Amino acid sequence: MKILVIGSGGREHAICWKIASEVKSATLYSVPGNAGIGEIANLINIPLDNLQEIATFAKKEKIDFTIVGPELPLAGGIVDIFNKKKLKIFGPSQKASNLEASKVWSKEFMAENNIPTGKFFVTDDFIGAKKVVEKSKFPVVIKFGGLAAGKGVAIAREYEEAISFLEDIFEKKIFSSVNNSVVIEEFLSGEELSYLVITEGENFIPLAPARDYKRIYDEDKGPNTGGMGCYSPVPVCSHELEKIIEKKIVIPTIKGLQKRNIDYCGIIYFGLMITDRGPEVLEYNVRFGDPETEVILPRMASSLLEILQAAVEGELKREMVVWKKEAAVDVVIASGGYPGSYKTDIPITGLDSVSSDVTIFHAGTKKINETFVTSGGRVLNVVGLGKNLKEARAKAYERIDSIFFNDMHFRRDIADLEKQN
Ligand code: AMP
Ligand code: GLY
Repeated sequence: MKILVIGSGGREHAICWKIASEVKSATLYSVPGNAGIGEIANLINIPLDNLQEIATFAKKEKIDFTIVGPELPLAGGIVDIFNKKKLKIFGPSQKASNLEASKVWSKEFMAENNIPTGKFFVTDDFIGAKKVVEKSKFPVVIKFGGLAAGKGVAIAREYEEAISFLEDIFEKKIFSSVNNSVVIEEFLSGEELSYLVITEGENFIPLAPARDYKRIYDEDKGPNTGGMGCYSPVPVCSHELEKIIEKKIVIPTIKGLQKRNIDYCGIIYFGLMITDRGPEVLEYNVRFGDPETEVILPRMASSLLEILQAAVEGELKREMVVWKKEAAVDVVIASGGYPGSYKTDIPITGLDSVSSDVTIFHAGTKKINETFVTSGGRVLNVVGLGKNLKEARAKAYERIDSIFFNDMHFRRDIADLEKQN
């Protein structure tokens, strides 16, 4: 069986690793992949924005099943292109990807379906936006309307900060010269939670809840990143809370998509804030989370591939998923300077030793003459598995002690729940 995984991060390495452990006879391919993925899959060097060429490759190579990691190929319509060629692929269509690709679309969708979310205002007019900000309570959240690789959100503590972000959008046009809509949104406080489900448009399977750390420095200081660490399970996410999330958020979302005649097959990732009023949606993503996937998949006892295939065939059943009791903690090691500019091609040492309870998922790595070197901002995910979060955390940090590259940076407070509370 031939499986193709699209993407090049820790998330895609975790997906390849999980499938390689389930289906010994599988031949794995990854476009474009990274050096860690290259240890278990064939790397195919096609740029991620060349969707036609990826589909042509899949057809020629007779790929049986494709899994898409990042949002850009989904928003570009890769699933529609594969479906036209009668190639099996897991992920939502271009239209369905609006749930993530357009903040305006998704907020209006939430309002229409009474899905709890912060109060908001949408405009594509700079003067109108300024007027809303003048009347807002601070902090106020301003979101650029389209995809912006995680950089399109500002939490403005004061008026000047809000205006400066609006100027970036409307005058400097830093995100787009055409689409300049913004969402101005109520600031929500509480604990964040990543709640992912797999759905084929009707039935759904919830994945193990995870908690992501977005800021670069300890104690949530510094700028936002793609994610500096993660853990699962999440103590704040009790069984009762999960029931509320399903009833008030997951089911209304799936029903709302049906109402709009959208056949949704894929992941729906609910970025939630657990507020005093209950769980509220901060954002939707239409794909696996990164680094959430790196802690969710090591905890999954059942077959990921079987579940994803069942979703595509429209035969999803909740009993298909079984979770291990163990906890998982992922500490991300990044290049010094990230999320700003950073150096690459720095040799990494200490990756050789293997153990059953620590797994290393590569993100920005490549190989030069048999040596692993850095090639991106987030470089490695060191994932510890243990009988509880404390043990999993200790294992991840102990393993990091033997990994080194110049200027490496990681947070020291991932899953440190005592400090957090
Ligand atoms: P988003 O891309 O919409 O998920 O926003 C990125 C991050 O900004 C979220 O993970 C939160 O940490 C934060 N954020 C977004 N919206 C809000 C909000 N309404 N209130 C508080 N924090 C928010
Ligand atoms: N962990 C955040 C994301 O995948 O968007």
